[in-house]
Amino acid sequence: MDYACRIDGDLLICTLTPDRHLTGAVFCFSGMAPLAPVAGGKLQCSLGSYTEVALPDMPANRPHIVRLRYAGGYTPANRAWMPLGPYLRHDNDVIRLPATPAGRRAAKPLAPACFDGLPLVPQPTQWTPTGAKTDAIDGFVVTGDALTAVASLATRQKVPFDGTFPVELITQDLPTDAYRLTIDKDGITIGAASYGGQFYAGITLLSLLQHGPLPCGEILDQPRFGWRGQHLDTARHYYEPGTIKALLDLMALLKLNRFHWHFADDEAFRVALDVLPELAQKTALRGEGQVLPALFAGGPHEGGMYSRQAVRAIIDHAASLNIEILPEIETPAHALALTTLYPETRDPDDTGTETSVQGYQRNALNPAMPKTWDLLETIINDICDLFPFGYVHLGCDELPTDTWMGSPRARALMAEHGLETTQDLQGWTIAKLAEFATRKGKRPAAWEEAAQGSNGGIGRDALLFSWTGQGAGLDAARAGYDVVMTPAQHVYLDMAHTDDLDDWGASWAGFVDLPDTIAWDPVPDPGLSDRIMGVQGAFWSEFTTQDSQIWPMLMPRMLGIAMMAWQIQRPELDTLYALSNCYQVDHRGRVTMGFDA
Ligand code: ACM
Repeated sequence: MDYACRIDGDLLICTLTPDRHLTGAVFCFSGMAPLAPVAGGKLQCSLGSYTEVALPDMPANRPHIVRLRYAGGYTPANRAWMPLGPYLRHDNDVIRLPATPAGRRAAKPLAPACFDGLPLVPQPTQWTPTGAKTDAIDGFVVTGDALTAVASLATRQKVPFDGTFPVELITQDLPTDAYRLTIDKDGITIGAASYGGQFYAGITLLSLLQHGPLPCGEILDQPRFGWRGQHLDTARHYYEPGTIKALLDLMALLKLNRFHWHFADDEAFRVALDVLPELAQKTALRGEGQVLPALFAGGPHEGGMYSRQAVRAIIDHAASLNIEILPEIETPAHALALTTLYPETRDPDDTGTETSVQGYQRNALNPAMPKTWDLLETIINDICDLFPFGYVHLGCDELPTDTWMGSPRARALMAEHGLETTQDLQGWTIAKLAEFATRKGKRPAAWEEAAQGSNGGIGRDALLFSWTGQGAGLDAARAGYDVVMTPAQHVYLDMAHTDDLDDWGASWAGFVDLPDTIAWDPVPDPGLSDRIMGVQGAFWSEFTTQDSQIWPMLMPRMLGIAMMAWQIQRPELDTLYALSNCYQVDHRGRVTMGFDA
């Protein structure tokens, strides 16, 4: 079977040439958003962006063209908008079609920038060189747990770190994660007050060592923000635990310290829970013969789940790298996996036809149904027991407009509590979920929408993530919430880098090129500095069908995010460009730091 697809204006033109006569074949695929055939076949069924097109009889060796168009007026922006994981279902069998070659078109070579600072991302707060250099050294004497963790990271990255150059660790009264690093011709002194400080001094040494003899002098370094995050959506695509660990390694090299693990969404709940084993067992796999079809799959099947053992290994790996893991449970919307498996979480008399941005109906849990609360309390309890970090993220984004308005039970609940709108009921619901989290000793976190509602939303103790832009985050900060800035226009690394049709990625928030990652100020109003806790990058996985696709999306843009999260001084574009040549990531996420300064 020959298959090819191309973009023509607002159409996708797919040409299928069978090598034998096919009758009754069905063309199955996902898209970036809901889409449907306009010619060449009939829509047989769809769920969100997953689409089945019934094809007419196809004689052997005759090209057959299917024309597809996105709903909602979207125009395909690049190759990631072509059918994802395409295959044919025929005679109870599947015929796989070749995937659109993914990854990003090679970046244009950057003009060699003249940069004479330290080859470090992020740039240190203060650097006082003496002008001398150490002799060539083989590496450092590894002492203490933090430097041992750096040495293990170096071994995984296959770069040198341990050796014979002396290192002394001393305790100094410095802020969390700050360090003072003195490089002399005959040895190193690291001053710090915390594991994080020693660890980041080690990371600095590891990075410098890749560029030859060390420059002598003193680095005094401390982060601007306590929350320096990166998010990964492992619900739409299952990433192997090894890929998550490689991402944690990359984060540590860039001095990021919070991994926001998005493992539950409409399409899957991937963490195996002791109390509800069927939840991951039945939703972690999608495709032919599964509860959910091949949504965002790389073919007729996709998936996997994280066992408790795998989760614990990832948590331990992160802890050694000074990274805490924020688990996210998506509620009340983005919950199709839950509402499909537990239909008692929906009001059977709900007449609403609301549709989510992703094209799903009935994907929100109904707060008037007792099963919703049983289920969510059980899940929250188990997740809070499994993940040691003091925060749990409860979701709360993108509740479809008018959700619950057709549910008599939700209407009765609203009347009982004096609530009038969907947002009021959302605020009431998320506040109640936040109480569960608090009872488990966790601080609740949620997306920015959790501040909505006449009750004041989730409650001022929560941490909010501002994603639609900075405005909602600033409003929440003014209203007394602590906020992490994750504005899509600057840090959503699933956005395509450019408007090139050969590029790869989403575009609803625009294109996010390297300069965009630093073309903003996380704290534009100094009066809010106490409320803005940090900066976080995000990667959503709707169009990712292989783990290796993330690296050319994350890099080099994660460099800009790391600079924004750590540096007190404003990052400079020339420096970022120059250093983007210095941190290269291969298809397995391994980093080389091969910059010729
Ligand atoms: C989001 O990007 N919907 C949080």
